[in-house]
Amino acid sequence: MKKKTIAVIPGDGIGREVMPEALRVLDAVAELHGGLKFDYTEFPWSCEYYLEKGEMMPKDGLDALSQSDAVFLGAVGNPKLVPDHISLWGLLLTIRRGFEQVINVRPAKQMKGIDSPLANPRDFDLIVVRENSEGEYSEVGGRMHSGDDEIAIQNNVFTKKGTKRAMEYAFELSRKRNSFLTSATKSNGIVHSMPFWDEVFQETALQYPDVKTDSQHIDALASFFVTKPHTFDVIVASNLFGDILTDVGAGIMGSIGIAPAANININGKYPSMFEPVHGSAPDIEGKGIANPIGQIWTGKMMLDHFGEDEIAQVMLDAVEDVLQEGIKTGDIGGKATTKEVTDAIVKNIQKRS
Ligand code: NAI
Ligand code: MG
Repeated sequence: MKKKTIAVIPGDGIGREVMPEALRVLDAVAELHGGLKFDYTEFPWSCEYYLEKGEMMPKDGLDALSQSDAVFLGAVGNPKLVPDHISLWGLLLTIRRGFEQVINVRPAKQMKGIDSPLANPRDFDLIVVRENSEGEYSEVGGRMHSGDDEIAIQNNVFTKKGTKRAMEYAFELSRKRNSFLTSATKSNGIVHSMPFWDEVFQETALQYPDVKTDSQHIDALASFFVTKPHTFDVIVASNLFGDILTDVGAGIMGSIGIAPAANININGKYPSMFEPVHGSAPDIEGKGIANPIGQIWTGKMMLDHFGEDEIAQVMLDAVEDVLQEGIKTGDIGGKATTKEVTDAIVKNIQKRS
């Protein structure tokens, strides 16, 4: 029996509602598989925890998490009680940076049973690989003077190491899919970092002669995500470009409530972290109507990461079956509750044994 230990952080708001549902689905596929078991350790770190203890997680929090094979996170944030920059930096970014999760992966696909806002989505199925440690989101820069003389300088930082490892990850992923990789650039407008990005892309491509490549300026690419998303497979992008592009990806799928994400540690020193794209959704908290699919699909990405491709696929197939039966939450046009959707998915999985 293979055992995977998972650090579970439900967090705040609907994170606490969708997390137990995703664990039920994970347990159902593990049971179907027979030879796999998940061992969960739950951590109560959240805004409530902060109000009580004065910190989002204890000082030795990362040590505690480092014992696990993966971190599974719900959502963090309760803007009425704790400013977002405290909850974000005190927990999410501490984990992402501390565990060197230098790659962010976000798939987007035309899900069966969900109406895409696109009139003709043509079965798009793509993955954005986003550089997650540097680029435009650097802390280098500063502000000086005040009033009308005030100056703000924000430096972009692109290292060869950081750029190349993101690209290599994307090339490897392309090989497992359709061997087609698009690079998001802007070398016509950003004259230092983006020509560098292009050069590293061309250089890295030499290691992968079997993968077809293309390069598109980010503005055009954002528009192509809307007009012809089916023409893409894997896309590699810098931190900021990837951030924006993945939200377009979530948008064309139909709801932020279904979009999954993974923060990947590639040197094997620390666990990776899996978290849905959505936040704690205070506006629907406690109503039992949150869409659990974002968290469930995120669990599927965790299984992919463990190399359990087969049962990972079962999870997604079960989700699509249930969507096609019309069992959906309100954000995607249905009337079902969080629990009803999960019950149907679990039942669908159990039927397969
Ligand atoms: P949000 O993603 O929580 O909500 C945006 C809108 O989408 C809301 O109308 C919400 O009801 C809806 N929505 C989100 N997830 C849904 C789901 N599963 N089912 C149905 N509807 C869903 O973003 P918002 O409102 O900007 O942020 C709320 C809090 O969450 C803030 O404190 C923010 O900082 C935090 N946040 C945390 C993230 C994380 O933990 N990774 C990511 C994004 C926001
Ligand atoms: Mg974003």
